[in-house]
Amino acid sequence: MPGDKSMSHRALIFGGLASGETRISGLLEGDDVLHTADAVRAFGAEVERVAAGEWRVRGGEWRSPEAPIDCGNSGTAARLLMGAAAGFPISVTFIGDESLSSRPMERVLAPLRAMGARTEGSTLPITIHGGGLRGIRFVNENASAQVKSAILLAGLRASGSVEVLEPAPSRDHSENMLRAFGCDVASDDGVISLGARRALTGREVIVPSDPSSAAFPIVAALLVPGSRVTVRGMMVNPLRTGLLTTLREMGADIGLQNERVEGGEAVADVTVAASRLHGVEVPAARAPSMIDEYPILAVAAAFASGRTVMHGLSELRVKESDRLAAMVAGLNACGVEAWEEGDSLIVEGLAASPSGAAEVRAQNDHRIAMSFVVLGLAAERAVSVDSADMISTSFPTFVPLMRSLGADIAERSAA
Ligand code: S3P
Repeated sequence: MPGDKSMSHRALIFGGLASGETRISGLLEGDDVLHTADAVRAFGAEVERVAAGEWRVRGGEWRSPEAPIDCGNSGTAARLLMGAAAGFPISVTFIGDESLSSRPMERVLAPLRAMGARTEGSTLPITIHGGGLRGIRFVNENASAQVKSAILLAGLRASGSVEVLEPAPSRDHSENMLRAFGCDVASDDGVISLGARRALTGREVIVPSDPSSAAFPIVAALLVPGSRVTVRGMMVNPLRTGLLTTLREMGADIGLQNERVEGGEAVADVTVAASRLHGVEVPAARAPSMIDEYPILAVAAAFASGRTVMHGLSELRVKESDRLAAMVAGLNACGVEAWEEGDSLIVEGLAASPSGAAEVRAQNDHRIAMSFVVLGLAAERAVSVDSADMISTSFPTFVPLMRSLGADIAERSAA
Protein backbone atom coordinates (compact mmCIF):
# COMPACT_ATOMS: atom_id res chain seq x y z
CA MET A 1 0.00 0.00 0.00
CA PRO A 2 1.20 3.55 -0.69
CA GLY A 3 2.23 5.89 2.13
CA ASP A 4 -0.22 8.07 4.00
CA LYS A 5 -1.14 11.21 2.09
CA SER A 6 -1.60 13.45 5.14
CA MET A 7 1.77 12.46 6.58
CA SER A 8 3.53 12.73 3.21
CA HIS A 9 2.46 16.37 2.74
CA ARG A 10 3.50 17.17 6.29
CA ALA A 11 6.89 15.44 6.06
CA LEU A 12 7.81 17.55 3.01
CA ILE A 13 6.53 20.83 4.46
CA PHE A 14 8.03 20.34 7.92
CA GLY A 15 11.30 19.20 6.32
CA GLY A 16 11.22 22.35 4.18
CA LEU A 17 10.89 24.51 7.30
CA ALA A 18 13.46 22.62 9.38
CA SER A 19 17.16 23.28 9.68
CA GLY A 20 19.35 20.39 8.54
CA GLU A 21 18.33 17.30 6.65
CA THR A 22 15.04 15.40 6.72
CA ARG A 23 15.03 11.89 5.27
CA ILE A 24 11.63 10.53 4.35
CA SER A 25 10.85 6.91 3.50
CA GLY A 26 7.52 5.55 2.27
CA LEU A 27 6.49 8.92 0.82
CA LEU A 28 3.32 8.72 -1.28
CA GLU A 29 4.30 9.70 -4.82
CA GLY A 30 0.79 10.71 -5.89
CA ASP A 31 0.09 13.93 -7.78
CA ASP A 32 -1.15 15.80 -4.68
CA VAL A 33 2.06 15.18 -2.76
CA LEU A 34 4.24 15.88 -5.81
CA HIS A 35 2.63 19.33 -5.99
CA THR A 36 3.69 19.89 -2.38
CA ALA A 37 7.26 18.72 -3.18
CA ASP A 38 7.45 21.23 -6.06
CA ALA A 39 6.02 23.97 -3.85
CA VAL A 40 8.49 23.41 -1.01
CA ARG A 41 11.29 23.56 -3.59
CA ALA A 42 9.88 26.81 -5.02
CA PHE A 43 10.01 28.33 -1.51
CA GLY A 44 13.77 27.69 -1.52
CA ALA A 45 14.23 24.30 0.17
CA GLU A 46 16.31 21.52 -1.38
CA VAL A 47 13.98 18.61 -2.19
CA GLU A 48 15.45 15.52 -3.76
CA ARG A 49 14.03 12.11 -4.71
CA VAL A 50 16.67 9.55 -3.81
CA ALA A 51 14.75 6.37 -4.74
CA ALA A 52 11.12 5.24 -4.92
CA GLY A 53 9.43 6.69 -1.81
CA GLU A 54 12.75 7.94 -0.43
CA TRP A 55 13.20 11.67 -0.34
CA ARG A 56 15.64 14.10 1.22
CA VAL A 57 14.77 17.68 2.17
CA ARG A 58 17.03 20.47 3.44
CA GLY A 59 14.96 23.35 4.72
CA GLY A 60 15.39 26.88 6.00
CA GLU A 61 14.03 30.39 5.54
CA TRP A 62 11.39 30.55 2.80
CA ARG A 63 11.58 33.14 0.01
CA SER A 64 8.94 34.53 -2.35
CA PRO A 65 8.60 32.02 -5.19
CA GLU A 66 9.16 33.25 -8.73
CA ALA A 67 5.83 31.91 -10.02
CA PRO A 68 2.43 31.06 -8.49
CA ILE A 69 2.36 27.87 -6.40
CA ASP A 70 0.20 25.29 -8.19
CA CYS A 71 -1.55 23.03 -5.67
CA GLY A 72 -3.30 20.95 -8.35
CA ASN A 73 -6.29 19.13 -6.81
CA SER A 74 -4.96 19.19 -3.26
CA GLY A 75 -6.72 20.98 -0.41
CA THR A 76 -4.08 19.80 2.04
CA ALA A 77 -1.27 21.27 -0.09
CA ALA A 78 -3.07 24.61 -0.45
CA ARG A 79 -4.15 25.06 3.15
CA LEU A 80 -0.99 23.83 4.89
CA LEU A 81 1.31 25.75 2.53
CA MET A 82 -0.70 28.95 3.05
CA GLY A 83 -0.17 28.63 6.78
CA ALA A 84 3.53 27.83 6.50
CA ALA A 85 4.19 30.65 3.99
CA ALA A 86 2.30 33.23 6.07
CA GLY A 87 4.99 32.99 8.74
CA PHE A 88 7.62 34.52 6.42
CA PRO A 89 7.86 38.14 5.19
CA ILE A 90 7.11 37.00 1.62
CA SER A 91 4.35 37.30 -0.97
CA VAL A 92 2.99 34.25 -2.74
CA THR A 93 0.06 33.42 -5.01
CA PHE A 94 -1.60 29.99 -4.85
CA ILE A 95 -3.46 28.45 -7.78
CA GLY A 96 -5.09 25.06 -8.37
CA ASP A 97 -7.33 23.04 -10.66
CA GLU A 98 -11.03 23.72 -11.22
CA SER A 99 -12.18 21.65 -8.24
CA LEU A 100 -9.67 23.20 -5.81
CA SER A 101 -10.49 26.67 -7.14
CA SER A 102 -14.07 26.27 -5.98
CA ARG A 103 -13.27 24.97 -2.48
CA PRO A 104 -13.60 27.23 0.58
CA MET A 105 -10.36 28.86 1.75
CA GLU A 106 -11.72 31.57 4.07
CA ARG A 107 -11.58 29.03 6.88
CA VAL A 108 -7.77 29.34 6.68
CA LEU A 109 -7.50 32.96 5.50
CA ALA A 110 -9.61 34.44 8.32
CA PRO A 111 -7.39 33.11 11.14
CA LEU A 112 -4.23 33.98 9.16
CA ARG A 113 -5.51 37.56 8.83
CA ALA A 114 -6.27 37.61 12.56
CA MET A 115 -2.61 36.70 13.07
CA GLY A 116 -1.52 39.65 10.90
CA ALA A 117 -1.20 38.27 7.35
CA ARG A 118 -2.69 40.16 4.40
CA THR A 119 -4.69 38.11 1.91
CA GLU A 120 -6.23 38.73 -1.50
CA GLY A 121 -9.04 36.54 -2.84
CA SER A 122 -11.27 34.10 -0.99
CA THR A 123 -10.99 31.16 -3.40
CA LEU A 124 -7.95 30.33 -5.54
CA PRO A 125 -6.14 32.21 -6.95
CA ILE A 126 -5.21 33.67 -3.56
CA THR A 127 -2.25 35.87 -2.68
CA ILE A 128 -0.79 35.96 0.81
CA HIS A 129 1.58 38.58 2.19
CA GLY A 130 3.09 37.13 5.34
CA GLY A 131 5.46 37.95 8.16
CA GLY A 132 5.25 39.75 11.52
CA LEU A 133 2.51 37.44 12.82
CA ARG A 134 1.03 37.54 16.32
CA GLY A 135 -0.54 34.73 18.33
CA ILE A 136 -4.15 33.54 18.17
CA ARG A 137 -6.75 31.59 20.11
CA PHE A 138 -8.78 29.84 17.40
CA VAL A 139 -11.85 27.61 17.68
CA ASN A 140 -11.73 24.90 14.98
CA GLU A 141 -15.50 24.58 14.43
CA ASN A 142 -15.27 22.34 11.34
CA ALA A 143 -12.93 19.83 13.05
CA SER A 144 -10.59 20.46 10.11
CA ALA A 145 -7.07 19.10 10.49
CA GLN A 146 -6.01 21.22 7.52
CA VAL A 147 -7.10 24.45 9.19
CA LYS A 148 -5.59 23.44 12.53
CA SER A 149 -2.33 22.56 10.80
CA ALA A 150 -2.23 25.85 8.87
CA ILE A 151 -2.53 27.82 12.10
CA LEU A 152 0.12 25.77 13.88
CA LEU A 153 2.49 26.20 10.91
CA ALA A 154 1.92 29.97 10.81
CA GLY A 155 2.30 29.99 14.59
CA LEU A 156 5.82 28.60 14.36
CA ARG A 157 6.91 32.14 13.41
CA ALA A 158 4.35 34.15 15.38
CA SER A 159 5.03 36.07 18.57
CA GLY A 160 2.80 35.21 21.52
CA SER A 161 0.66 32.23 22.36
CA VAL A 162 -0.90 30.08 19.66
CA GLU A 163 -3.87 27.94 20.69
CA VAL A 164 -6.32 25.88 18.65
CA LEU A 165 -9.46 24.71 20.47
CA GLU A 166 -11.06 21.59 19.05
CA PRO A 167 -14.70 20.90 19.98
CA ALA A 168 -14.15 17.54 18.24
CA PRO A 169 -10.68 16.07 17.70
CA SER A 170 -9.28 15.93 14.16
CA ARG A 171 -6.29 13.92 12.92
CA ASP A 172 -3.23 14.86 14.98
CA HIS A 173 -0.36 14.11 12.56
CA SER A 174 0.83 17.73 12.62
CA GLU A 175 1.07 17.74 16.40
CA ASN A 176 2.90 14.38 16.43
CA MET A 177 5.30 15.36 13.66
CA LEU A 178 5.99 18.85 15.04
CA ARG A 179 7.00 17.25 18.35
CA ALA A 180 9.27 14.82 16.50
CA PHE A 181 10.92 17.81 14.77
CA GLY A 182 11.69 19.33 18.21
CA CYS A 183 8.82 21.81 18.58
CA ASP A 184 6.94 22.21 21.90
CA VAL A 185 3.30 21.27 21.28
CA ALA A 186 0.85 20.54 24.09
CA SER A 187 -2.52 18.82 23.58
CA ASP A 188 -4.67 19.15 26.65
CA ASP A 189 -8.40 18.57 26.86
CA GLY A 190 -9.16 19.75 23.32
CA VAL A 191 -6.65 22.65 23.37
CA ILE A 192 -3.56 22.40 21.19
CA SER A 193 -0.91 25.00 21.96
CA LEU A 194 2.58 25.84 20.83
CA GLY A 195 5.20 26.38 23.53
CA ALA A 196 8.28 28.59 23.48
CA ARG A 197 10.46 26.21 21.44
CA ARG A 198 9.21 26.47 17.88
CA ALA A 199 12.32 25.84 15.77
CA LEU A 200 12.25 22.63 13.70
CA THR A 201 15.23 20.35 13.24
CA GLY A 202 15.39 17.90 10.34
CA ARG A 203 14.95 14.20 11.14
CA GLU A 204 13.98 10.85 9.72
CA VAL A 205 10.29 10.33 8.89
CA ILE A 206 8.84 6.90 8.13
CA VAL A 207 5.44 7.16 6.46
CA PRO A 208 3.10 4.22 7.17
CA SER A 209 0.46 2.88 4.74
CA ASP A 210 -2.51 5.16 4.16
CA PRO A 211 -5.71 3.92 5.85
CA SER A 212 -7.81 6.11 3.54
CA SER A 213 -6.36 4.29 0.49
CA ALA A 214 -6.40 0.87 2.22
CA ALA A 215 -10.13 1.42 2.69
CA PHE A 216 -10.70 0.43 -0.97
CA PRO A 217 -9.08 -3.03 -0.97
CA ILE A 218 -10.47 -3.58 2.55
CA VAL A 219 -14.06 -3.02 1.44
CA ALA A 220 -13.44 -4.95 -1.80
CA ALA A 221 -12.31 -7.92 0.32
CA LEU A 222 -15.47 -7.69 2.43
CA LEU A 223 -17.74 -7.66 -0.61
CA VAL A 224 -16.16 -10.13 -3.05
CA PRO A 225 -17.06 -13.67 -1.91
CA GLY A 226 -14.10 -15.83 -0.89
CA SER A 227 -11.69 -12.91 -0.40
CA ARG A 228 -9.11 -12.57 2.32
CA VAL A 229 -6.69 -9.62 2.19
CA THR A 230 -3.98 -8.37 4.54
CA VAL A 231 -2.82 -4.75 4.47
CA ARG A 232 0.64 -4.56 6.00
CA GLY A 233 1.83 -1.64 8.12
CA MET A 234 -1.41 0.32 7.95
CA MET A 235 -1.61 3.40 10.12
CA VAL A 236 -4.17 2.79 12.88
CA ASN A 237 -4.04 6.17 14.65
CA PRO A 238 -7.47 6.19 16.40
CA LEU A 239 -8.27 9.52 14.76
CA ARG A 240 -8.18 7.72 11.38
CA THR A 241 -9.92 4.41 12.10
CA GLY A 242 -13.61 5.34 12.18
CA LEU A 243 -14.18 3.19 9.08
CA LEU A 244 -12.82 0.05 10.77
CA THR A 245 -15.04 0.72 13.81
CA THR A 246 -18.10 1.15 11.59
CA LEU A 247 -17.40 -1.89 9.40
CA ARG A 248 -16.96 -4.05 12.52
CA GLU A 249 -20.31 -2.80 13.83
CA MET A 250 -21.76 -3.91 10.47
CA GLY A 251 -20.42 -7.43 11.07
CA ALA A 252 -17.12 -7.27 9.16
CA ASP A 253 -14.45 -9.84 9.94
CA ILE A 254 -11.42 -7.57 10.46
CA GLY A 255 -8.40 -8.52 12.57
CA LEU A 256 -5.36 -6.46 13.61
CA GLN A 257 -1.98 -8.16 14.04
CA ASN A 258 1.52 -6.94 14.92
CA GLU A 259 0.34 -3.69 16.45
CA ARG A 260 3.39 -1.46 16.84
CA VAL A 261 4.61 2.14 16.64
CA GLU A 262 6.49 3.21 13.50
CA GLY A 263 7.60 6.74 12.76
CA GLY A 264 5.67 7.98 15.80
CA GLU A 265 2.32 6.54 14.63
CA ALA A 266 0.45 3.35 15.59
CA VAL A 267 0.50 0.80 12.77
CA ALA A 268 -0.74 -2.78 12.37
CA ASP A 269 -1.25 -5.49 9.78
CA VAL A 270 -4.98 -5.57 9.03
CA THR A 271 -6.61 -8.77 7.75
CA VAL A 272 -10.09 -8.68 6.24
CA ALA A 273 -12.25 -11.58 5.07
CA ALA A 274 -15.46 -11.48 3.01
CA SER A 275 -18.36 -10.93 5.41
CA ARG A 276 -22.13 -10.60 5.53
CA LEU A 277 -22.81 -6.99 6.56
CA HIS A 278 -25.84 -5.34 8.12
CA GLY A 279 -26.86 -1.68 8.16
CA VAL A 280 -25.97 0.62 11.08
CA GLU A 281 -26.46 4.21 12.20
CA VAL A 282 -23.14 6.11 12.08
CA PRO A 283 -23.05 8.98 14.60
CA ALA A 284 -22.00 12.49 13.52
CA ALA A 285 -19.28 12.43 16.19
CA ARG A 286 -17.43 9.78 14.18
CA ALA A 287 -17.16 11.90 11.03
CA PRO A 288 -13.71 13.45 11.67
CA SER A 289 -12.13 10.00 12.10
CA MET A 290 -13.44 8.73 8.75
CA ILE A 291 -14.17 11.89 6.78
CA ASP A 292 -12.59 10.58 3.55
CA GLU A 293 -14.09 7.08 3.91
CA TYR A 294 -17.83 7.82 3.55
CA PRO A 295 -17.92 7.13 -0.20
CA ILE A 296 -16.53 3.62 0.22
CA LEU A 297 -18.64 3.04 3.35
CA ALA A 298 -21.72 3.91 1.28
CA VAL A 299 -20.67 1.19 -1.19
CA ALA A 300 -20.35 -1.36 1.64
CA ALA A 301 -23.78 -0.24 2.91
CA ALA A 302 -25.33 -0.98 -0.52
CA PHE A 303 -24.47 -4.70 -0.12
CA ALA A 304 -25.55 -4.89 3.55
CA SER A 305 -28.92 -6.03 4.84
CA GLY A 306 -31.03 -3.13 6.07
CA ARG A 307 -30.57 0.60 6.10
CA THR A 308 -27.37 2.52 6.89
CA VAL A 309 -27.72 6.12 8.05
CA MET A 310 -24.62 8.33 8.16
CA HIS A 311 -24.97 11.61 10.06
CA GLY A 312 -23.04 14.87 10.16
CA LEU A 313 -21.68 14.94 6.61
CA SER A 314 -21.85 18.67 5.76
CA GLU A 315 -18.07 18.72 5.12
CA LEU A 316 -18.48 16.10 2.37
CA ARG A 317 -20.08 18.78 0.20
CA VAL A 318 -16.81 20.74 0.03
CA LYS A 319 -14.34 17.95 -0.72
CA GLU A 320 -12.87 17.29 -4.18
CA SER A 321 -16.52 17.09 -5.30
CA ASP A 322 -19.88 17.27 -3.51
CA ARG A 323 -19.44 13.69 -2.31
CA LEU A 324 -22.96 13.43 -0.88
CA ALA A 325 -24.53 14.22 -4.25
CA ALA A 326 -21.97 12.15 -6.19
CA MET A 327 -22.57 9.02 -4.07
CA VAL A 328 -26.36 9.31 -4.24
CA ALA A 329 -26.29 9.69 -8.05
CA GLY A 330 -23.79 6.86 -8.55
CA LEU A 331 -25.57 4.44 -6.21
CA ASN A 332 -28.94 5.19 -7.82
CA ALA A 333 -27.44 4.52 -11.27
CA CYS A 334 -26.18 1.14 -10.00
CA GLY A 335 -29.64 0.12 -8.76
CA VAL A 336 -29.26 1.10 -5.09
CA GLU A 337 -31.77 3.28 -3.23
CA ALA A 338 -29.85 6.10 -1.55
CA TRP A 339 -30.75 9.67 -0.69
CA GLU A 340 -29.69 12.74 1.27
CA GLU A 341 -31.63 14.07 4.24
CA GLY A 342 -30.09 17.33 5.44
CA ASP A 343 -26.47 16.45 6.20
CA SER A 344 -27.18 12.71 6.40
CA LEU A 345 -26.69 10.04 3.76
CA ILE A 346 -29.07 7.09 3.78
CA VAL A 347 -28.42 3.87 1.88
CA GLU A 348 -31.02 1.10 1.65
CA GLY A 349 -28.96 -2.08 1.68
CA LEU A 350 -29.93 -4.81 -0.79
CA ALA A 351 -28.57 -7.77 1.21
CA ALA A 352 -27.34 -8.83 -2.23
CA SER A 353 -25.23 -7.53 -5.09
CA PRO A 354 -26.49 -4.37 -6.83
CA SER A 355 -27.29 -4.77 -10.51
CA GLY A 356 -24.44 -2.47 -11.62
CA ALA A 357 -24.50 -2.12 -15.43
CA ALA A 358 -24.11 1.64 -15.14
CA GLU A 359 -21.77 4.39 -16.26
CA VAL A 360 -21.03 6.38 -13.10
CA ARG A 361 -19.89 10.01 -13.11
CA ALA A 362 -16.90 10.26 -10.81
CA GLN A 363 -17.08 14.09 -10.84
CA ASN A 364 -13.28 14.15 -11.27
CA ASP A 365 -12.99 12.92 -7.68
CA HIS A 366 -10.46 10.14 -6.95
CA ARG A 367 -12.38 8.64 -4.04
CA ILE A 368 -15.69 8.55 -5.95
CA ALA A 369 -13.95 6.80 -8.87
CA MET A 370 -12.30 4.16 -6.64
CA SER A 371 -15.53 3.58 -4.69
CA PHE A 372 -17.46 2.67 -7.84
CA VAL A 373 -14.64 0.48 -9.18
CA VAL A 374 -15.00 -1.49 -5.93
CA LEU A 375 -18.79 -1.61 -6.27
CA GLY A 376 -18.32 -2.95 -9.81
CA LEU A 377 -16.10 -5.80 -8.57
CA ALA A 378 -18.99 -7.32 -6.65
CA ALA A 379 -21.98 -6.07 -8.69
CA GLU A 380 -24.01 -8.41 -10.93
CA ARG A 381 -22.81 -6.64 -14.06
CA ALA A 382 -19.82 -4.42 -14.76
CA VAL A 383 -19.75 -0.78 -13.73
CA SER A 384 -17.84 1.84 -15.68
CA VAL A 385 -16.49 5.06 -14.26
CA ASP A 386 -16.28 8.05 -16.63
CA SER A 387 -12.89 9.37 -15.50
CA ALA A 388 -10.25 7.51 -13.59
CA ASP A 389 -7.29 9.84 -14.15
CA MET A 390 -7.75 11.55 -10.81
CA ILE A 391 -7.04 8.30 -8.95
CA SER A 392 -3.35 9.18 -9.33
CA THR A 393 -3.77 12.13 -6.95
CA SER A 394 -3.84 9.80 -3.95
CA PHE A 395 -3.37 6.17 -5.06
CA PRO A 396 -1.34 5.91 -8.29
CA THR A 397 -0.96 2.13 -7.93
CA PHE A 398 -4.67 1.45 -7.33
CA VAL A 399 -5.43 -0.33 -10.61
CA PRO A 400 -2.35 -2.63 -10.68
CA LEU A 401 -2.73 -3.38 -6.97
CA MET A 402 -6.40 -4.33 -7.33
CA ARG A 403 -5.57 -6.42 -10.40
CA SER A 404 -2.88 -8.23 -8.41
CA LEU A 405 -5.67 -9.23 -5.98
CA GLY A 406 -7.67 -10.63 -8.89
CA ALA A 407 -9.82 -7.66 -9.89
CA ASP A 408 -10.97 -7.56 -13.51
CA ILE A 409 -10.49 -3.90 -14.46
CA ALA A 410 -10.37 -2.75 -18.09
CA GLU A 411 -9.10 0.70 -19.02
CA ARG A 412 -10.24 2.68 -22.02
CA SER A 413 -8.52 5.90 -22.87
CA ALA A 414 -10.70 8.98 -22.90
CA ALA A 415 -9.61 9.90 -26.44
C1 S3P B 1 -6.61 16.16 5.75
C2 S3P B 1 -7.72 16.55 6.46
C3 S3P B 1 -9.10 16.32 5.99
C4 S3P B 1 -9.16 15.27 4.89
C5 S3P B 1 -8.10 15.48 3.86
C6 S3P B 1 -6.72 15.43 4.49
C7 S3P B 1 -5.27 16.48 6.29
O1 S3P B 1 -9.62 17.54 5.48
O2 S3P B 1 -10.43 15.27 4.29
O3 S3P B 1 -8.18 14.50 2.85
O4 S3P B 1 -4.27 15.95 5.79
O5 S3P B 1 -5.18 17.27 7.24
P1 S3P B 1 -10.25 18.66 6.47
O6 S3P B 1 -9.17 19.21 7.31
O7 S3P B 1 -10.81 19.72 5.53
O8 S3P B 1 -11.33 17.97 7.25
